[in-house]
Amino acid sequence: MLIAITGTPGVGKSTVAKILAEKLGYEYIDLKEFALEHNIGEEKEGELELDVDELSYWVEKELKNKNAVIDGHLSHLLPVDQVVVIRTHPKIIGERLSERGYPKKKISENVEAELVDVCLVEAIDKHENVIEVDATNKSPEEVASEILELLNKGIKRKIGIVDWTEVYDEIIPYLDLGGEE
Ligand SMILES: Nc1ncnc2c1ncn2[C@@H]1O[C@H](COP(=O)(O)OP(=O)(O)O)[C@@H](O)[C@H]1O
Ligand SMILES: [Mg+2]
Repeated sequence: MLIAITGTPGVGKSTVAKILAEKLGYEYIDLKEFALEHNIGEEKEGELELDVDELSYWVEKELKNKNAVIDGHLSHLLPVDQVVVIRTHPKIIGERLSERGYPKKKISENVEAELVDVCLVEAIDKHENVIEVDATNKSPEEVASEILELLNKGIKRKIGIVDWTEVYDEIIPYLDLGGEE
């Protein structure tokens, strides 16, 4: 079984995916590394732009019959059996990406993406089996256990668990609303 762990950058994908893979005894796959190994994607403005069709081809070819946890913010666009969308309060995304030294514009883009559920919307557009998990105020260990519990119960779809518009005021400082220049 292939499990995609997706979500906005900074949401905690890599941390949780590694723990989950370990708990399940599955292979852990970093999608960016997988892409580089197969010469997929182009470096543009310091960022790797991945070709999803090409990536899907290689996932089908090499991982189809394996048990693996695939970590990446585009993993929900791939031919996987289960998608897990990790959610985290956009304010925390803003804080984490600031710590990573992301430029203000990039931080704003990602905080906004989390606010308006971009990964979730894309995931449910493509897959039936989509589970959303809110990682806010939980340890990575707790989040991995929660995912494991849902999978063990045979729950394949669980969406609509967060609404960040309720906390919009807290997010404003991270948004690039224009007017400054
Ligand atoms: N549940 C959590 N609680 C506290 N800190 C977390 C949690 N999940 C991740 N982190 C921290 O947040 C940062 C981003 O996590 P990471 O797994 O790299 O996110 P992603 O892979 O989605 O970009 C890391 O410094 C990580 O240690
Ligand atoms: Mg990561």
